[in-house]
Amino acid sequence: DACGVLTGRRIVISAGGTREPLDPVRFLGNRSSGKQGIALAKAAHAAGADVELVAANIDSGLLTGLPDDITITPVESTLELQYAMQSAQTRADAIIMAAAVADYRPAETTDSKMKKSGDEGLTLRLVQNPDILRGLVDERSRQTRLGDQIIVGFAAETGDAETTALDYARAKFRRKGVDLLVFNDVSDDQAFGHDDTMVQIITSDAGDINVGEEFHGSKDHVSQKVIAALSDQFTH
Ligand code: C5P
Repeated sequence: DACGVLTGRRIVISAGGTREPLDPVRFLGNRSSGKQGIALAKAAHAAGADVELVAANIDSGLLTGLPDDITITPVESTLELQYAMQSAQTRADAIIMAAAVADYRPAETTDSKMKKSGDEGLTLRLVQNPDILRGLVDERSRQTRLGDQIIVGFAAETGDAETTALDYARAKFRRKGVDLLVFNDVSDDQAFGHDDTMVQIITSDAGDINVGEEFHGSKDHVSQKVIAALSDQFTH
């Protein structure tokens, strides 16, 4: 590790999936296991980086195998994740947003358990969550000293009759303003919770969008490719 390609670099990685509280015992959540983010943390650590993992609701059994010099910050909701990422941004050389973030959260949360109210059903009002990734990119452009920071996003896309999944990913790359977008096509299989995955890494090359080759395999294997692509960004 003493002479890895990322030695001396601090990499902040978000992983897992957010939970949006409804009341003290209930939440709206998603099926992200955190395996991809954990694999990235291991790969970055193996490349010599100082790694901070912001872990959204990751099973403790998955975290115990990590090297003990990786800092773990547990969070639950999107707003907690946002706060942790904003705090970590000030000291990061690179940020990887691998967490599955809820687009919406309940407009109200109650301090006591919600009661059943007869048989007329229940309507929940949701409000939009902030786009954490977008906020980090904006903050980087506001702070000159963060100018060299590398920001990586993930995009799980499905295609439809008019537009391929990859075209959606290309558009997302532009819209988010990231340096590197890890695209995975989830049209027919679900990457969530599974051990194998396929990704393509999207970068830009003198203003043109560059779509990398397909990488297939375990999340560990794919993570090594992502960390290699991230390392390339530092030398550019
Ligand atoms: O727009 P979409 O949710 O597909 O973007 C995915 C990327 O944006 C991921 O890197 C995810 O972690 C990040 N994201 C975020 N805040 C949100 C939604 C997504 O940072 N509210």
